[in-house]
Parts: sequence; C-alpha cells; structure tokens
Amino acid sequence: MAIIRSKKFILRPFRRGDEKSLMKNINNPTIARNTLRIPYPYKLKDARWWINRNLKLARKKKKIEINFAIEMNKEIIGGVGLDKMFYGHSAEIGYWLGKKYWGQGIMTEAVKLVTKYGFNKLKLSRIYAFVFSFNRASAAVLKNAGFKYEGKLRKHVKKGNKLLDDLLFAKVK
Ligand SMILES: CC(C)(COP(=O)(O)OP(=O)(O)OC[C@H]1O[C@@H](n2cnc3c(N)ncnc32)[C@H](O)[C@@H]1OP(=O)(O)O)[C@@H](O)C(=O)NCCC(=O)NCCS
Repeated sequence: MAIIRSKKFILRPFRRGDEKSLMKNINNPTIARNTLRIPYPYKLKDARWWINRNLKLARKKKKIEINFAIEMNKEIIGGVGLDKMFYGHSAEIGYWLGKKYWGQGIMTEAVKLVTKYGFNKLKLSRIYAFVFSFNRASAAVLKNAGFKYEGKLRKHVKKGNKLLDDLLFAKVK
C-alpha cells in the first residue's frame, strides 16, 4: 500500500501504535451520526479491532478494501478508504476527520489524492460515495473534489431503527 504525502498531512497504512490517537480523534458523536459503522463512544477495543482488521487486509492478495490513515503531527487525525472493490473497476470511498481539524480543506484534498490513486494506481473507472441527506459538509467535499451528484436513494440505509435517505455521488474516469 502506498504512502501519499501532501503539504499538510500524510496518507499511510494504519499500524500498531495508532490506537490512542485514532481513538482520541474519532471519538465524537457527530462523526458517529454521519457515518454508518463508527460507534460512539469509540473505545480502545474499537481502535484495536480497526488496526487488526487493516493489518489483516494488508496481507491479502486481492484488495477489496484499502484504508489510509491521515497523519498530521504524528497523530491519526482522520481516515479515508476505498471499499467494495469486488469487480476491480469500482470502489466506494468513505472518510472521517477529527473535529478540531474541520473546515481547513483537509478532507477535500485527501479525497482528491485517494481518488487519483484509485484511478491511476488501482486502475478504477468509478469511485462513488453515499452521504446521508443531512450531511452538507460531506456533500461539499465530494463536489469540490470533482464528484457528480447522481441522485437520492430513499430509505437506502437502516441505522438503529431509522431508515435514512442517501445521496449518491460519483466520479468516473
Ligand atoms: C465531512 C468531513 C470529513 C469534512 O472534512 P473537512 O476537512 O472539514 O472538509 P473540507 O474543509 O475539505 O470541506 C468542507 C466543506 O463543507 C462545507 N461545510 C461545512 N459545514 C457545512 C454545513 N453545515 N453546511 C454546508 N456546508 C458545510 C465547507 O464550507 C466546505 O466547503 P467549501 O470549501 O465549498 O466552503 C468532516 O466534517 C467529518 O469528518 N464529518 C463527520 C464524518 C462524516 O461525515 N464522514 C463522511 C460520511 S459520508
């Protein structure tokens, strides 16, 4: 898995030792509310599970899922990953960023870099994202990273006991 450097941050694989800063920056109710599988509170055992999962994924030959840690000042401040690469031509992108780093253009840049990596290195032709219809910041990130809005998927996901609408965005090469 590649290491991608920008002026502000590094995108690199998750590794042992990341657990504490991962837990510190991801442990936020708004992050949990806007994503499907990130719990709140996010405990050390959740961070350990995530790191182990990524170490296992890294050993697999066929890459269905690739997750980058966003590192800044030696801390894990966020994550961005490509998933569901079953067929080899498309992937779903997902991401989160620690609250104190919001609004600085970090995720727009990270999504642009990972999308470029997906198209050029992984030879993908389509990268898409599902955004809960109330998540304006995430929709703005995707638009600013060159993704196009493809439509609203009504009651697309079940979160707890609620059915939520998703907005579908995609970029093709
Ligand atoms: C979504 C998230 C990753 C954005 O990260 P970020 O680094 O702050 O994003 P950026 O600074 O690159 O861009 C944010 C954009 O959203 C806009 N924005 C922020 N809050 C907004 C709001 N409440 N309403 C409308 N737009 C908003 C900003 O103005 C900016 O757009 P602009 O550059 O056109 O002005 C971050 O808020 C987050 O982690 N949220 C919780 C988890 C999540 O939503 N993950 C994605 C699930 S699909």
